[in-house]
Formats: sequence, C-alpha cells, structure tokens
Amino acid sequence: MSLLVAGEWGGHMKIRVLGAAAGGGFPQWNCNCHNCKGFRDGTVNALARTQSSICISTDDENWLLVNASPDIRAQLASFAPLQPARQLRDTGIAAVLLMDAQIDHTSGLLMLREGCPLDLYCTDPVFEDLSQGFPIFPMLDFKTWNGGFRRQPISLNAEQGFEIPAIQQLRIHAMPLTSKAPPYSPHRDHPVSGDNIGIFVEDLRSGGTLFYAPGLGEIEPHLLPWMERADCLMVDGTLWRDDEMIRQEVGVQLGTTMGHLPQSGPGGMLEVLETLPATRKVLIHINNTNPILNEDSPERAELQRRGVDVAWDGMEIWL
Ligand code: MLT
Ligand code: MN
Ligand code: ZN
Repeated sequence: MSLLVAGEWGGHMKIRVLGAAAGGGFPQWNCNCHNCKGFRDGTVNALARTQSSICISTDDENWLLVNASPDIRAQLASFAPLQPARQLRDTGIAAVLLMDAQIDHTSGLLMLREGCPLDLYCTDPVFEDLSQGFPIFPMLDFKTWNGGFRRQPISLNAEQGFEIPAIQQLRIHAMPLTSKAPPYSPHRDHPVSGDNIGIFVEDLRSGGTLFYAPGLGEIEPHLLPWMERADCLMVDGTLWRDDEMIRQEVGVQLGTTMGHLPQSGPGGMLEVLETLPATRKVLIHINNTNPILNEDSPERAELQRRGVDVAWDGMEIWL
C-alpha cells in the first residue's frame, strides 16, 4: 500500500466517512449526557457526528453506499460527488450495501425512494427483516417508486468474495459476525448467520485493502486472517467501557449485550488492534457517551499513543 495525499488517488479506492456516530448521532437530540451537554455548552472539545455510513469508489464517480443512515440527506449534501448533476435526476450512488438491518443503517433507504430502482446488496436474514419487521422492500416496491430496491444477495463465502458490476475493480469478501440483529428483529435473541457482516474490500488495481465492521461484538477466529491482511481496519468504536451507558444512566444495556465489543480493558478492541499490522486503525460507529469523542480526554490521548484514529464525518482514506 502506498501513502497518498489528497488529489493523487488515481488507481486507488477511496473511502469517505459520511457518518461516524452510532445510532442517535452526536450530540443525540434528546441526550444531556456529559458529552452531549458539554458539546452544546462548549465545555467538551468534540466534533458533531452523524449516524453510521461510509461510501467507497474506485473512480470518484460511481459510489458504493455502505449503510443508509437516517442522516443521509445531510450526508449527501456534504459530499458533492454523491450529487453529480449529470442529468435531470441523478445520483453518485451506484449501489447500496448493508452490514445489518439496524435502524441506524437502513432507515435512510426511505429517503432514497425517488432514486429507485437501485441495487441493494444484503444477506438473507437482513432481507427477511427488511421484508417483515421493518418492511422497506414491500413498502417501496410499488409503481410509484419505480420498482423500489432491487435486492442482490451477498455471498457469505468469504474466500470466494463477490463483485458489484457498478463499481469496477473492487472485490468484496463478506463474513458473518457475532453481533446483534436489531431490537425489532425476531433474530434479536436468536441470532442467525448473516444478521451482521464484516467486509474485507480489495482494490484489484492497487491491492489496497479495508476491513470494515461497524458492529463487531466478538473477534472470532475466522475474522483474524482477514484483519491481519488489511491495510486499514475500520472497526466498532461504539463504547469505551462495556457498562458505559449504565454508568452514565442513559441506558440499561451492556455494549456486549448490544453486539459491540468495548475498546478498553482485557480482551477489548484496543488490545486486539495492538496485535494487528494494519497501517491505519480507525474506530467508527461511536456512541455519544464515548469519552474518545472528547479530543482533550485521557482516553483520546491513549488512542493517539496507540496509533488509533477516531473517524469523523468527512474523513477520507485512499487505499
Ligand atoms: C446499535 O448498533 O446498537 C445501534 O446504534 C442501535 C440504534 O440504531 O440505535
Ligand atoms: Mn448502530
Ligand atoms: Zn449523549
């Protein structure tokens, strides 16, 4: 992998972070936790962040949208290549891929209805949830919406991988993760393979590779070889401590109960990242309670010492 600066990325894939926060965003509309309140009154030094989504392109023109956040309208407006205006009705989104059926990763699909039909890649369990519990597919599959989303399956045969015709020179290897189906899903407490996936994305020209898993509850043995191979790791940054939401009295669930491995402590994400050779290590899908949002916090200093970045809206990585 070569190190690139902005403007000279021809022949590489580009990853643009559209939203770096977990569900609720930062600050969250109804929240007055230390971070949310401190952001508003200026006592916490942090950037606002919208809800979890990235996009990837190999030609700066055709973009794979990975997850569709509730904040998608603002995210599209924040990044001109997604609104190229080549014709009367137009978008830079060439296809959409979902990591799971969580509300913060899928409700933005409703905002894309005027741009249908659009290819939508998801696993069978995610397709099932989005056909029943949160029936986006049937809702939009009417004449009004020009056929809605054209569902495309994702193979969970990671070795083999698959390509998306609209995005040239990109190969995606998807693998099932132990995380959590959405609270509305019948699979919430009865997980099935494919409720959540991680992806290893490879630019076939540059050889640059990304491992992306915004919801990662456990580092399972089948993931490690992919994580070891990746130039860039972009992984679950939801919580610093497993009991963070309980301690801050904004929730009753542990991170691990929600399918998110915390960063700190024995067996935490930072310990795992330490053992991996990637040149870029980035935390994404950050909950508003997480002290790493505060740029002056000791937790943020610890990340800096360890060479781990905190994703922000607008962050770009070339691989
Ligand atoms: C999660 O990943 O657990 C979510 O961010 C939940 C949500 O959509 O609020
Ligand atoms: Mn989420
Ligand atoms: Zn908050």
